Amino acid sequence: MPALHLLHIDASARLGVSGIHPHGSNTRRLTQHFVDRWSSVRPQDQVIYRDLSRQRPSPVTAEWIDAAFIPPEQRDAEMTAYLAESDRLVEELTRADLVVIGVPMYNFGIPATLKAWIDNVVRVGATFGFDRDRAEGPYWPMLSAGKRLVILSSRGDAGYDPGGRLESVNLVERSITLPMSYIGLTETYRIAIEYDESADDRLAASIDKAESAVDTLVQKLAAAQLQVSRTLPDDAAIP
Ligand SMILES: Cc1cc2nc3c(=O)[nH]c(=O)nc-3n(C[C@H](O)[C@H](O)[C@H](O)COP(=O)(O)O)c2cc1C
Repeated sequence: MPALHLLHIDASARLGVSGIHPHGSNTRRLTQHFVDRWSSVRPQDQVIYRDLSRQRPSPVTAEWIDAAFIPPEQRDAEMTAYLAESDRLVEELTRADLVVIGVPMYNFGIPATLKAWIDNVVRVGATFGFDRDRAEGPYWPMLSAGKRLVILSSRGDAGYDPGGRLESVNLVERSITLPMSYIGLTETYRIAIEYDESADDRLAASIDKAESAVDTLVQKLAAAQLQVSRTLPDDAAIP
């Protein structure tokens, strides 16, 4: 079975893990649960870890825009150096077959660190193409097809899922799926914990439900991967 690359991203400002540390992060708990399960089913896969709270990506600046929006062959050394961080983040994403993002809800949306990561990886000429004169439309995704995105979230209140009382004010998943689909990550899964602020039985039940959903998702994605591997000839190269 060919090895895959899993990119594990955490974005909670809380550095502890719920269930282990007091007031720890639910999203760190869920991503760790996902990665542990995945590694037990597919120990051959490589996990790349990026903690956006411990290593905060730089926000977009005027210098970044100048460097990113001119063709690579016209960049001077300073511009090239300026994009080094973005290059590294793009490279991790490009290599990943499966992207698992732990994302808390902050003020109905995503943490600034995750927004900065998105702004660094959604980059013209690197992850999406742009040509005003292109007949099929000016933009196209550059990431290879078949990548999967898993969004593991947590909220203080409850009712943010599709059909829920607060669905319309939940900006979290869409803030991620929209830019990610733009660069080619269109297969998306989402699981969330709710009631963090209640800190009662409802939170405990929500954590149990989310962890079971993660178990089911891991089985499903790993089985789908096995299916892909079986349909490939033994010597096929995985792009
Ligand atoms: C700065 C901040 C803003 C928050 N905003 C919201 C919010 O808009 N809606 C909500 O339901 N919960 C909100 N919460 C609660 C968190 O979503 C909740 O505690 C969640 O579990 C955080 O994820 P974590 O456990 O991985 O840190 C907020 C928490 C913080 C710290």
